[in-house]
Amino acid sequence: MNAPAQAANTQGLLTEVAEQLGGPLPEELAAALRQVPRHQFLPETIWVRDGQGGYQHINRSTDPDEWMAAAYADQTLVTQFTDGLPTSSASMPSMVLRMLQLTEVTAPERTRQQPFKAIELGTGTGFNAALLCALLGQGTLTTVELDPVLAEQSERNLKAAGYAPTVVQGDAAKGCPGPAPYARVLATFSVDQIPPAWIAQTAPGGRIVTPWTSAWCCYGTLALTVSASGTAQGRFHDFASFMPMRPSSEPETAHSPHAHAIAAEEAKSATALSPWAVAGGDLDVEFHLGLTVPGAFFSWDTTGEHAPVRLCIEDATSASWATVDYDGTHTTEFTVTQTGPRRLWDEIAAAYASWTNNGRPGVDRHGLTVHADGRHTLWLDSPDHTLDPSAEGRAKISKNP
Ligand SMILES: C[S@@+](CC[C@H](N)C(=O)[O-])C[C@H]1O[C@@H](n2cnc3c(N)ncnc32)[C@H](O)[C@@H]1O
Repeated sequence: MNAPAQAANTQGLLTEVAEQLGGPLPEELAAALRQVPRHQFLPETIWVRDGQGGYQHINRSTDPDEWMAAAYADQTLVTQFTDGLPTSSASMPSMVLRMLQLTEVTAPERTRQQPFKAIELGTGTGFNAALLCALLGQGTLTTVELDPVLAEQSERNLKAAGYAPTVVQGDAAKGCPGPAPYARVLATFSVDQIPPAWIAQTAPGGRIVTPWTSAWCCYGTLALTVSASGTAQGRFHDFASFMPMRPSSEPETAHSPHAHAIAAEEAKSATALSPWAVAGGDLDVEFHLGLTVPGAFFSWDTTGEHAPVRLCIEDATSASWATVDYDGTHTTEFTVTQTGPRRLWDEIAAAYASWTNNGRPGVDRHGLTVHADGRHTLWLDSPDHTLDPSAEGRAKISKNP
């Protein structure tokens, strides 16, 4: 692509990003985006959302114009599928830039003589690593990718664009001790626990930024500051939904709680709490439930086989499940069935009550302290207002990841 076409593409992207973020980017970030040609980091085939819950592919050789337009649109481009699920992508540029802002990569304490040392976790295409190199300077960045093919390809992409961070193939849960300590740690996949290595490898005063996920809800971005005593503390922010961190080896096949619990005693009750109130798409409440009822996840059954609409709740590690049925008529009373050691609906209803009693907090009123021994303590508004996860969940959330 010639220089004027490249400049026009980047300007279009900057305009879209500014619209998404509600204002123009700080000049340093805009300059980095102008400097890094996104299309050079993309494979021949990319996938975009098709608007019907699936994906459609765009091939560079058969649809060059559409491919290039997608490269410079403010959208996530999936670059790899594994077993039918997206496992790598070039993240949405406005999200990438929000994360870079939150990471404070251009903070004033960074100087030309003493640039920040940083680590990116999840190299993917290498695009974000290139932006980090453009912002931090050469020789400052380590980036870790689990997938060996992606790690090699991203290193080639980076080199072709003129950047040479240290690309490490490995499990980002372990960080990369060699160049540590880092002033900045930026993950580009979501986690539900902070791996201890990330804190151990962050310099005092350094920042860790990571997208968040829970079994209930994949949403939010956490920004932590690490203290000299090895405690990390900070707030969640109200944006981003990233694919989860992959384990370095396949986990043992999880048993189906439904199948195991089928013979257990079932407790029937009625609830006035609508299943849509807790799982109908309100990200504030779903984020809160995900934090405070760890392990519980849900699906909707609209086949009509058991009820006109059924909310199914399960816990992957215990043989517990609950269902909440809407009978097609009554919107103030729903039938609940629960079984297993965890009473999942009771936990969800208690967490929902706590959410309303606390004034229906949004994502950014929540915070987390990770203690030096690895315990995670959730809080609302300030670290002294701790949130108590459900009894079963507490055991899980406080155990060392
Ligand atoms: C959303 S993509 C990253 C986007 C990337 N930063 C970019 O600019 O293209 C997430 C990446 O994290 C990688 N990943 C997931 N789990 C990982 C792990 N445990 N260790 C290292 N990389 C991991 C995935 O293979 C994937 O490439």
